[in-house]
Amino acid sequence: MKKTFVNYEQLNEIVKKYPTPFHLYDEKGIRQNARALKKAFEWNKGFKEYFAVKATPNPTILKILKEEGFGVDCSSYTELMMSEKVGFKGDEIMFSSNVTPKEDFIYARKLDAIINLDDITHIDFLDKVAGIPETISCRYNPGGEFLINNAIMDTPGDAKYGFTKPQLIEGFKILIKKGVKEFGLHAFLASNTIANEYYPVLAKKLFETSVELKKETGAHITFINLSGGIGIPYHPDQQKADIFSVGKGVKEAFEEILVPAGMSDVSIYTELGRFVLGPYGCLVSRAIHEKHIHKDYIGLDACAANLMRPAIYGAYHHITVMGKENEPCDYKYDVTGGLCENNDKFAIDRMLPKIDIGDLIVIHDTGAHGFAMGYNYNGKLRSAEVLLKENGETQLIRRAETPEDYFATLEI
Ligand SMILES: Cc1ncc(COP(=O)(O)O)c(C=O)c1O
Repeated sequence: MKKTFVNYEQLNEIVKKYPTPFHLYDEKGIRQNARALKKAFEWNKGFKEYFAVKATPNPTILKILKEEGFGVDCSSYTELMMSEKVGFKGDEIMFSSNVTPKEDFIYARKLDAIINLDDITHIDFLDKVAGIPETISCRYNPGGEFLINNAIMDTPGDAKYGFTKPQLIEGFKILIKKGVKEFGLHAFLASNTIANEYYPVLAKKLFETSVELKKETGAHITFINLSGGIGIPYHPDQQKADIFSVGKGVKEAFEEILVPAGMSDVSIYTELGRFVLGPYGCLVSRAIHEKHIHKDYIGLDACAANLMRPAIYGAYHHITVMGKENEPCDYKYDVTGGLCENNDKFAIDRMLPKIDIGDLIVIHDTGAHGFAMGYNYNGKLRSAEVLLKENGETQLIRRAETPEDYFATLEI
């Protein structure tokens, strides 16, 4: 059974202060998990996690992660701004973008962030708009399918990201001529993968490619960025990735490939979002309507504008009806929001306890790519974000949007 990180009594107190819907984050869980991740990779002297800001772009959350020793991975101008405001500097910032506007590169260079280039043509583009730094990273796309034990995990061949292998070799040579002294190599080849083998298989591929690049170009590769992609068990039947087994698998590949190639000084970087924040956030909402036509519906005060994943990916998010955790799940519901879109459903044909109007409904695992993907369709407003602190107190870390916010950019 999946458990919420707040209990019924606690949540009843919290909703007295903050009207539903809102996203709630668990500081204790975030910190414990962050420490486990660091421990799993402590064998690597230069290990650093660059939290993917796009997953949970909130300064208070970023501050917590900074205190835990993490850097940030930014993909846009405003993510760079937020990171700068929180106090991240220089090589604490990774800039992994694609189809990058020139203003973004200029800003990343101003902050002295590490730039991770998405394409060979970006070498000249960056050189023209902001100059080439002495340390740079390139994103690799090997094409084809990404397999783990012969199972297809994803299809990089269809992905718009990265350099091909020949482009990497050519690109590294050009960059050396342009004065680059230290290189990084990056790849993100499968998303939301809970298999413990994901990072080790990816690491092996990147380590082998690095050895080849060093041989072909003489480049000094100082870091390898395994990016994001470690998944979380959204469904109660799934198992959490064992981060210690993941770390051990990467270490084995490191010792097998990089150490004999004289590359034992390589630092391992990660850009995890979902694994770092996903389970430590939830969407708190209330049942405000029920409807019985050809199916039985429960309507919430939250909608896909607050959590888009079920609507766009058909993603499973577990639901707990608070206070009814131990009641039998003998009612079948579609749990919906109020958008004029029939895919605005948090759950379809879900067996749940009988839901009454006013019940508090918790939608699990919204800590990453949850609030962040929110939007204003149907004039719906983005919700608040609340932090449940380690000491049990709560803090409003983003207020809910108001109609004034919605109208702020309009000429009337
Ligand atoms: C470049 C890059 N790095 C890291 C991440 C984080 O991925 P995840 O949250 O799946 O770990 C993403 C997500 O889209 C990404 O695009």
